[in-house]
Amino acid sequence: MKVRWQILWVWLGLSVLCATSFADAQADTRIDTRTSGHVYLSPQLHALQDDPQRNPVALWQERGQGLWQAQCTSCHGAMDSVKRSVASFPRLSADGKTLVNLEDQILRCQQRGAAPASTPVQATAPSSTAGAAALESDSVLSLSAALHQAAKGERIQVALSATASPEHTAQWQARLSSGERLYQARMGRMNLACMHCHDGKVGAQMRADTISQAHPTGFPIYRMAWQTLGSLDRRLRACYSGVQAPIPSAGSADLRDLELFLKVRANGMRLDGPSIRR
Ligand code: HEC
Ligand code: HEC
Repeated sequence: MKVRWQILWVWLGLSVLCATSFADAQADTRIDTRTSGHVYLSPQLHALQDDPQRNPVALWQERGQGLWQAQCTSCHGAMDSVKRSVASFPRLSADGKTLVNLEDQILRCQQRGAAPASTPVQATAPSSTAGAAALESDSVLSLSAALHQAAKGERIQVALSATASPEHTAQWQARLSSGERLYQARMGRMNLACMHCHDGKVGAQMRADTISQAHPTGFPIYRMAWQTLGSLDRRLRACYSGVQAPIPSAGSADLRDLELFLKVRANGMRLDGPSIRR
């Protein structure tokens, strides 16, 4: 009888051991394998990124800080007071009808600051031509660079507010699924979807680029090929052009839907701050 008990204890012990290692193995599959595009920089571009004397993004950051002092402190105070919000765009507009990304918000606030206090805010629709150009203007990009620098290290946290109305919730879900559909839809003469490159061919060479997982952690980017700073909008349009598909206009709803999908997909990842790209 005594021997039987011993066997039982050994057996119990073994099963606990097995169960623990099984749980460990399951935990392993949950390790975060998401990486920023930063990991594919060449050693030369890494060095440029890390050298404050030579990093060209510094010019935009300085201009952005100056603009913040001149145009934004009256309502917002120090830039640090909004840095956490940088990681939470795009958001739904107050009327719940459109998505607003950080550059849209900057543009709205610039127009609000410029108008006399009595006039209601009439933000230029980003889908208009003037609105699209304004989104890539030097002042919007500079403020975006300065704000993203201030928000460096913050974790992306894009979610619907817990108190959202049923209408807002429905709109949010519609925008998110539209973004996911766009990410998965084949397009252009190359007949490829975003996912075919950014999920299926990560690490592969395409011309002189290494294909990344397309996490929007490093924007705005100074792209050598552009010789200037550009937004996530502009990068996405470059991907449409790369597969020879019709290019959505800057600030269009499709680009906002894609940004929402990409940000939700990157939730929890840390912002790198404005970054160099090839
Ligand atoms: C006249 C007051 C006013 C000025 C000036 C102003 N803002 Fe705003 N800002 C607001 C209000 C109000 C909100 C809340 C959201 C909304 O209504 O758009 C806001 C929201 C923001 C947010 C999101 C902050 C958060 O915590 O949710 C950012 C980022 C921002 N503004 C950037 C700027 C920048 C950059 C400038 C300077 C170009 C600026 N703002 C100038 C009034 C202003
Ligand atoms: C034919 C392959 C291909 C397709 C299809 C494609 N891209 Fe890209 N994309 C690239 C390459 C190459 C780069 C530059 C290297 C990199 O960062 O991946 C890039 C860069 C990016 C980046 C910038 C990443 C960074 O950290 O700088 C994002 C975001 C992105 N693509 C999103 C998309 C989205 C969204 C779509 C679909 C609308 C798409 N791409 C379609 C090849 C592709």
